[in-house]
Amino acid sequence: MRIFSGIQPTGRKHLGNYLGAIRQYVDGQQRAGEQGGLAIFCIVDLHAITVAYDPAELRERTYDTAALLIAAGLDPERCVLFRQSDVPEQTELCWLLSSVTAHGDLNRMHQFKEKSEVQRELISAGLFFYPVLQAADVLAYRCDEVPVGEDQRQHIETMRDIAERFNARFADRGEILVTPEHRIPEVGARIMDLQDPDSKMSTTAASEEGTIYLLDEPETIKRKLNRAVTDSDDPPVIAFDPDKRGVSNLLDILAACKAISPDEAAAELAAARGYGDLKAAVSDAVIEMLTPVRERYEQLRGDETALEQILLRGAEQAREIAAVTLTEVRGAMGVGPVV
Ligand code: TYM
Repeated sequence: MRIFSGIQPTGRKHLGNYLGAIRQYVDGQQRAGEQGGLAIFCIVDLHAITVAYDPAELRERTYDTAALLIAAGLDPERCVLFRQSDVPEQTELCWLLSSVTAHGDLNRMHQFKEKSEVQRELISAGLFFYPVLQAADVLAYRCDEVPVGEDQRQHIETMRDIAERFNARFADRGEILVTPEHRIPEVGARIMDLQDPDSKMSTTAASEEGTIYLLDEPETIKRKLNRAVTDSDDPPVIAFDPDKRGVSNLLDILAACKAISPDEAAAELAAARGYGDLKAAVSDAVIEMLTPVRERYEQLRGDETALEQILLRGAEQAREIAAVTLTEVRGAMGVGPVV
């Protein structure tokens, strides 16, 4: 079993990233270890340059993200953790795969539409091409499983199509590329903004009050949750119900923190007097979950030399695997000399 996922070194990582993705990375590392597989995690700096960004900040955020992933439980001795730009095989594969990627499929990507709408100066071709690089990330390692949040479902579908089209076109016998499966969690796959529960929690939200950052202090977490939008039902109804967006989001967060279902989380609050009790329960659970991550992060982030070494060693391991795939892909496509 081989697991791969990628995370962007942009903005400050938030509770949605943690519950939808980072926690599943740690679980994947554990399962891969038990089954003699491999878990590979990539900080995708080349994806981050597809929107407006500051070069010095990109480097800082890359270290922030590395420290955060380790603080959350990724262990560079038990998984491969690296920076995307250190593995040129991935960018080469991106170009090679462009020949089996349908322009029309890229045109239909929700994420491209959403992100291009908020770009003020330039909608880069890189933003349009983003899903092809994402496909190359995973396909270079012939991974079977990709832990992601719900918003990545369409990108995973596209990478599956690309792998299948490549195999149909270039693999005479069997398959060269592995068609991966997404692994989207049942609970916490789409955490919504606390101020606007119709939009997903993100770093680009209109107000910071709707986003819980992983490094927020407990008082900040408490304040943001206290002000979370619920509804005006009187008496208050604590139930997981699509018509109750704010309340359902809080139940989803609570359930994800406690590894139970949202209905079970609602049942635990049967004696609650109102939404205040629900918010307090969510605050306690989130603070308990994130405090150790924040504390470990603070110990790790200062030592950039150590973080750099971890990333470079991860890249060496990653390149060994990707190089084998690339040799086969080039050969099958008739690119370069016969080897
Ligand atoms: P990024 O950094 O934007 O997001 C990282 C992960 O966090 C998940 N996520 C959420 N989950 C639940 N609720 C939310 N509100 C929420 N917001 C974000 C995302 O689904 C993602 O899993 N395109 C990828 C990066 C990438 C990648 C890859 C992923 C590049 N190459 C290869 C998998 C495999 C992304 O969105 O990163």
